[in-house]
This record gives sequence, structure tokens and C-alpha cells, in this order.
Amino acid sequence: MRKRILTGITTTGTPHIGNYLGAIKPALELVSPDNDSYFFLADYHALIKQNDPIEIEASVKNVALAWLSSGLDPEQSHFYRQSDIPEVHELTWILNCSAAKGLLNRAHAYKSIVAENTQSGDDEDRAINMGLFSYPVLMAADILLFNATHVPVGPDQAQHMEMARDIAGKFNHSYSNLLTLPDALIQNEISVPGNDGRKMSKTYNNIIPFLSSEKVLQKSISKIITNSLEPGQPKDYKTCTLFQLYSFFATPDQIDDMKKSYSDGIGWGDVKNDLFSIINNEILPIREKYTELKEQPDLLNDLFSDGARKVRPQAQELVGKLREAVGISKIV
Ligand code: TRP
Repeated sequence: MRKRILTGITTTGTPHIGNYLGAIKPALELVSPDNDSYFFLADYHALIKQNDPIEIEASVKNVALAWLSSGLDPEQSHFYRQSDIPEVHELTWILNCSAAKGLLNRAHAYKSIVAENTQSGDDEDRAINMGLFSYPVLMAADILLFNATHVPVGPDQAQHMEMARDIAGKFNHSYSNLLTLPDALIQNEISVPGNDGRKMSKTYNNIIPFLSSEKVLQKSISKIITNSLEPGQPKDYKTCTLFQLYSFFATPDQIDDMKKSYSDGIGWGDVKNDLFSIINNEILPIREKYTELKEQPDLLNDLFSDGARKVRPQAQELVGKLREAVGISKIV
């Protein structure tokens, strides 16, 4: 059977180098003429955590442009916005009626907030909306609506994938075998360090931006924290943030050369220059594309409506069958 790859991209924040290396690049590498690929912007998922409409809109734009600039080709892949496909919600409700509450009670994201609330002596449901609680059902609907066979996700989404299979299996057992059980393609956890050595994350305010100007990139690299060894003193690459970042972009030969330079006592300023050049070389065409696309006001709206036009008939067909299976269709 032809593989159908599908993944959702939550539209919060502006993508950084960590998102590029950990999610965008590996997902786009899976695109090939031998499979179907579906990439969508999970904007309804974003509403769970973000209630600023201006932020929501800016994020959808930046995230979409980041993927397009990095090589997502809407001719080759299906590219759409979750909120343009209302059938997602019809399926979500149908799946809600097959999903055990006990299953959702065990979701890590939900459980960890309950644990925090309990620990701080608050009501256990403090600050938990139903969107957060039923997040995995909406995600299952995203996947099952298009009969996805393979879903590339980070390790933090593995449990949600189990839940999607579980809920689909329950539906198929109760009614008929209409839903495809998807396989998770768990992407390797690559831990990209931020400029303070901790995992790169907006929360830690340590990101290296991805779509910024050359100057901003250079400045954020110059801020990366190092120890105070002088040029000429041998350095340890194993514990070094600069080296880790360098190795994500370098060829094996370049990595070997850099290890040697560390033991030969390369100065931190020179490592930072090399790191800047290697990141900038890879990002240059992406940045140029981004600058060009950003100036075309109708581009995204046109792409979103094309994307929805392409995939909605499939969604409508499946939901039609499901409605019939559960007994909500034409009376005979
Ligand atoms: N929950 C995913 C994440 O945060 C995003 C997502 C939403 C998704 N729907 C999906 C991923 C469907 C894969 C398939 O990364």
C-alpha cells in the first residue's frame, strides 16, 4: 500500500533553529514521489495555549512561511490549515464518543498539570480547559480523517499516537473497519542547545532565530556562553554548545577538522565565526525565499484555499461513511 505521511504543525511562536533541525528538516526529507504527504497547520490546537488573536495570526503566518521557505512544495504535498476543514470537528465528536475518559485521564500533558496543581494545594483542575483535556482526540481526528498510514512526530507525541490507534480501534470494533490505524514515525530526539547550553526553547529565552537577518543571527551566535579558556589552550568539544550546534550543520569531515582545532586550541571567536558561516550558508537560500514570500500578501490565503479545496472532498467522503456507520444519515 502507498504510504500516506501526515503531520500537524502547532502554530505557536516563530520557528527557531531547534524547530528547523528537529521538525521541519526531517519531515520534509520524507517527501517523495513514492508516497503522499499531508502537512497542515494545527491552528485549533494553538488555541488551547494561546488566547491572543494577534499572536495566533502572526504565528500561522510565520510558521507557514518557515515551512514553505524551507522547501515544502504545495504542488507535491498537501498543505492546508486545520481550521479550513470543518469535518475535523465532526470526526472529533464521533471519536469523543469512542474515546474512554480514563484513557484521556492518563495523558502526560494533562497529568503533569494536575500534579502541579495538587502539589501547590490548588484545585486539581485549575487552569485546565476542555481543549487541553481532549487535545489527543482532536489530534486523532486530524490523522484518521485522511487515513494517514505514517505520522512523523517527536518523542513527546508518542502517547498521543497510541491514543489515536486506541480510539480508532474502538470505533472500528463498535461499527465497521473504516478507520486506518496509523503508525508513528518517532523522530530521534535531537537535543539542540540554546545560547545558554540548555535545550533551545522560547520558554528559556535562549533561541537562535531562524528567519532573522544575517546580523541578528551573528549577534545571537556571539552571545553563546563559553568558558574562559584563551586561544592556544586546548578545549573540550564534548561539552561545548558551539561544537554541538556546529555538528548539526557540518559534514563528517568538517566535524573531524573542528575536533582537531579544539585540541589545537582554537579561540572562541574563531569557532563562533565558523559556526556563523556554516549556519548562514544553509539558511541563506531559506532566508531569501522567506523575504520574497513575505512580500506577497495573497500568497498564504491562496495556498490555504487551494489546500482545502484539494483535501476537503476526501474528508467529506470519509465523514459521510462514518455518519452512515453510526446511523446519522438519510432515513430509509
Ligand atoms: N500535537 C502535535 C505537536 O504538538 C501537533 C499535531 C496536531 C499533530 N495534530 C497532529 C502531529 C496530527 C501529527 C499529527 O507536535
